[in-house]
Amino acid sequence: MTGSSGVSVRQVTVRVPAKINLQLRVGPRRADGYHELVNVFHAVSVCDEVSARSADRVRVVVQGAQTSGVPTGDDNLAARAASLLAREVGRSPGVELGIRKTIPVAGGMAGGSADAAAALVACDALWGTGLGPDRLHALAAALGSDVPFALLGGTAVGLGRGERLTALPVGGTFHWVLAVFDDGLSTARVYAECDRLRAERDEQAEPPEACEALLAVLRAGDASALGPMLANDLQEAALALRPGLRRVLDTGRAAGAPGALVSGSGPTCAFLVRSESRARSVADAIAEAGVARAVLRAYGPVAGARVTEAR
Ligand code: C5P
Repeated sequence: MTGSSGVSVRQVTVRVPAKINLQLRVGPRRADGYHELVNVFHAVSVCDEVSARSADRVRVVVQGAQTSGVPTGDDNLAARAASLLAREVGRSPGVELGIRKTIPVAGGMAGGSADAAAALVACDALWGTGLGPDRLHALAAALGSDVPFALLGGTAVGLGRGERLTALPVGGTFHWVLAVFDDGLSTARVYAECDRLRAERDEQAEPPEACEALLAVLRAGDASALGPMLANDLQEAALALRPGLRRVLDTGRAAGAPGALVSGSGPTCAFLVRSESRARSVADAIAEAGVARAVLRAYGPVAGARVTEAR
């Protein structure tokens, strides 16, 4: 393969981060079934790696500690990303995608979307298609609401169904503890539960609004001020479907985390802490309570999908 630099490339590896949501405001359900959002994404240092090399057709090989539930056929979102890119540039889609999973599967951290974004970047480099960021973004948005953010990384607000992104400046690094679980939650099911709970209360979803105060706190990099501003309109629905998550959130709060919330549609719970050393003590408290399958420490913001190796 001849990459965009003109140098022959046989294999490309891309690292891509998970996201958590600092504020996820869910507005009314649209005619197309999606919900109008104000979604503040934050990329954290829990990353998958996707490598791409030529093959006779699209193949997916998944490795990692927790891979059950990840499709290995044409319905894998990374495979769909490779096929979509190939169609876009009018070439055969033959590629083997090796996905090394660290991001929890169906965990509310956009792991499948991250792999799709990584596949776009990896195939773009392998095939030397040289699509600019705007065309890659359009392909990403066609694949899923969270895929464009996985390309961009950092911290950004997403409008529409989450795909219309504006990067947000952040003054420093935030430290996080993540409680992860084996059994994922279906994003569509959590949105449906959110609608059901609202209907039960006769509540009309308001068009969501961005919180200006959050932007100032992000610019200042102030974890203590950010903690109480973390908000997720899907949290109530995730807790209704998985009531045990309440205890997980309480455990992290009791251990001193100034912020605690369900990430996206869950079930991953994210705890904002003031420093790396506080992350250790909050992570230990959650692990000792035995309320999660595993506890990870992470920081953000980090970059979006990037090539780490081309050879
Ligand atoms: O876009 P994506 O395929 O990742 O979305 C998965 C599901 O989440 C959708 O099928 C929809 O049920 C729900 N969703 C939504 N509104 C959004 C984003 C996702 O209802 N803005």
